[in-house]
Parts: sequence; C-alpha cells; structure tokens
Amino acid sequence: MNQWLDERLNISRLNDKFLRKAFPVHHTFFLGEITMFALIILILTGVFLALSYEPSTRLVPSFLDKNTMVPAAYSSILRINWMPFGDMLRRIHHWSANIMVAAAIVHMMRIYFTGSFKKPRELNWWIGMLLLVFTILTAVTGYSLPYDNFAKTTLGVVVSIVQSIPWIGDYVAQLAFGGKFALDNTQMIPRVYGYHIMLLPAILLSLTGAHLLIMIKQKHTQPQYAKRIAYKKIVGVPLSTQQTPIAVMLALLFAGLIILFAAFIPVHPVEVFGPASDNPVQNIKPDWYLLWIFGVLELIPANFKFTLFGGEFGPEFIGGIVIATLVLVVMLAVPIFDQSKENLYYAENPTDHPKRLAAGIAFFALLIVWSVAGYKNDFQWPVAPFYVLTIVGPLVSYFATLAIVRGIKSFKAAEERERDQHQAAAADD
Ligand code: HEM
Repeated sequence: MNQWLDERLNISRLNDKFLRKAFPVHHTFFLGEITMFALIILILTGVFLALSYEPSTRLVPSFLDKNTMVPAAYSSILRINWMPFGDMLRRIHHWSANIMVAAAIVHMMRIYFTGSFKKPRELNWWIGMLLLVFTILTAVTGYSLPYDNFAKTTLGVVVSIVQSIPWIGDYVAQLAFGGKFALDNTQMIPRVYGYHIMLLPAILLSLTGAHLLIMIKQKHTQPQYAKRIAYKKIVGVPLSTQQTPIAVMLALLFAGLIILFAAFIPVHPVEVFGPASDNPVQNIKPDWYLLWIFGVLELIPANFKFTLFGGEFGPEFIGGIVIATLVLVVMLAVPIFDQSKENLYYAENPTDHPKRLAAGIAFFALLIVWSVAGYKNDFQWPVAPFYVLTIVGPLVSYFATLAIVRGIKSFKAAEERERDQHQAAAADD
C-alpha cells in the first residue's frame, strides 16, 4: 500500500520533509497545540450548528410560543436548544471559543517571556497577533447571531464604536452591517453570519497554516534542557510516530475537559434576554478578554470630545479605537525592540531578562486595572483612583518584579557561595 501510494504521490519525500520533524517535549510547547485543537472543535461544532441556524431577522412564530412573533434567528436558537444534544453543541462551541482565546493568550505569554519572538521568529509573532485579533473578532460576531436582546445590545455597542470614527464612521458602519443599525435592518444578521462562518474562519485557517509552516521551516526554539543533552542539536521526538500519539492523547484529554465544562456550566441563556428589541439591556459587559476596552470607555468622561475639520473625536473613538489600537501596536512592536543579530536557538529563562519580564508584567497589570474599571458602575466606585492606578499599577508591578528577580538571584548566588565553601572545606579535610 505504502509503495503504491509512494509511486503515485511521492509520500516518502513528505515523510522526510515534515513527518520526521522533531518536537520538543516540554509542557509549555503544548499551548499552541491546545489553541489549535480549540479551533478544530469550533469548526466541527460550528458546521453542525449552521445546519439548524437560520440567519434571518424576518418575524416568525416563536419555537416556544406560537402566538408570539420573534426573529427567525432567535427562534432557530431556541429550536437548537430543544434538539437532542443541541444545547450541548452550543455549550461546547461557546466554551471552546473562550478556551481558544485563553490558550492563545497563555501561548503568547510563553513566547514573550522566553524571548521566542526574537530573530528569526518575528514573522510568526506578527501572524500570531493577527490570529489573536481575528479569533476575538470571530467570537464577537458569534455573540450577535442568536439575535436575542443581549446580541442586539452588543451589536449596538460595536456599531457605535465603528460609527465614532471621525468623517467616515457612518459609511464604514453601513458598509459593514448592511445599512443603518435598526431592528428592521434585514441585512445585518446575514452579513454578520457571513463574517462568522466564512470570512473570519477562512482568515483564521489561512493564518494558522502559515503560522505552522513557518514554525516547521524555522524549527522550534529548543528548551533549555536540550542544551545539556546535545549542544546546538535539535532534541525532541519526531512527528511520526512519537509526537502524533502524544498530540492525539492531548487532543482527546482536551475534548474531554471541554465536554465536562459544557455538561455542567450552561452558556448564554437566550430565553432570559428575550428576542432583539429596541430597549437595550442595561449594564451589559463584554467577555473577559474585552473587558479592558470596556473599562477604558468607562474611564473617559462622556463629554470629552472635540471637533477637527468637521470630524468629531469622542470618547468611543478615543477609547474603543485609538487606545485599543495603541495597545495592539505596542504588542506588534515587541520583536522590533530586540536588537539581536544572531538567531535565537534556545528559549530563554525569563529571570535572565528581568527588564523584559517586568515590562510584560506591567503591561498585564495595566490591562487588569482597566478590566476592573469595567465594574466601576456596578460598585459605584469613583473614577479618580483608576486614573492613579493606570499610572501607579504598572510602575509598581515593574519595579516589584525587578526587586523580586534581584532577590531570587542574590539568594541563589548566596546558596552557590555556601555550597562552594562547603566543598572547599570538605576538600581541605
Ligand atoms: C490563535 C491561534 C494560534 C494558534 C492555533 C497557534 C499555534 C501554534 C503552534 C501549534 C505552535 C507550535 C507549538 C508551540 O510552540 O506552542 C506555535 C508556535 C509559535 N507561535 Fe503560535 N498560535 C496561535 C497564536 C499565537 C500568538 C497570539 C502568538 C504571539 C503573538 C504566536 C506566536 C508563535 C511563535 C513565535 C511560535 C514559535 C515558537 C517557538 O519556536 O518556540 N502564536 N503556534
């Protein structure tokens, strides 16, 4: 069979080129794979959801109460909930989306703190950033599809951020959402559906393919232990046959965990919010990974606006677009701050690069401060402490990290000195 296929498809070349690739055996290198498994589960469950979902705002008798007219999209979600395993399918899809974002963020942290973004892997850092942004956009468009009142309110927030772009905001929003944002806009849901099931997944799959091909071409950074085993040699297990069963086991374990989550933790209850209406849900919040943008919007005073050449610059544009873009630009610029001329071979120990470690922790501290600010109205907190924390939080985190790393280093150095003294004393005896 192998020979038959080889004579036709030259698979032995494929074997030499790809399947013998050595994978490092270290738990942190599984984070990218977990992100990929989540993407696969999302696509599989998404295909089945699409078979029963109706992307339409036309009014139909509700699946639960034939006397009430509701948007067809909303009714089709109620029907999915009542189908055998329908609710479970929605839950698995929902939890996989959350885990994909979380795994991508932790994967990115691994790359950042070990310096794996350095030459020659800058391209993969940038493609990874795009993957993160498009993953979040896919999740946001997914939230809009049930067309319950929560979805309509969320969509309203997104549309008003797009509309806030000076001069062109209105046109861009109408282009993106098929007309004005209104309950009777029949184009809005089909358009968002097209983004969610075709455009964005196609972008995600193409970027993931490019990300993996570049990774195979450049090879993984090697974990520190590889240095001790065989200096400057690739240490690991080949994709075929050792790494594949490890990956399959991990994928099954991961799928099991998601199913467990889905079995016990319900997701977005559309019937609680009811069908889309003109009364927005009060005090709505985005998912955890967008809470920081929401917090920034809460911190900018509503009357903070100015006009320039006829275009209005308001709080939504400054918070939702300018500050969010600045945060992305800083993340994209990470490889540019590094001046190394040599290619990075071994993943670095984070504490050997205290300034990089401290800058990363300060950055996350800032995002946490802004995310907590998202709860300002729930607890009636004053705004002033958040302005102070926006500056002080990252600064304290930065210097505290430097001090802790210095402490760890001097503790280790003292231990080494003591060991050397003991060894010297033992040799004298
Ligand atoms: C969102 C979807 C993503 C998927 C499916 C994905 C997948 C993967 C996989 C499977 C690997 C190889 C295993 C590993 O090193 O963990 C990898 C490596 C890598 N990823 Fe990602 N990744 C994603 C997002 C990101 C993000 C957000 C970044 C950074 C901004 C990033 C940067 C990198 C880099 C630089 C490598 C090479 C690491 C090395 O050689 O040590 N990736 N990715």
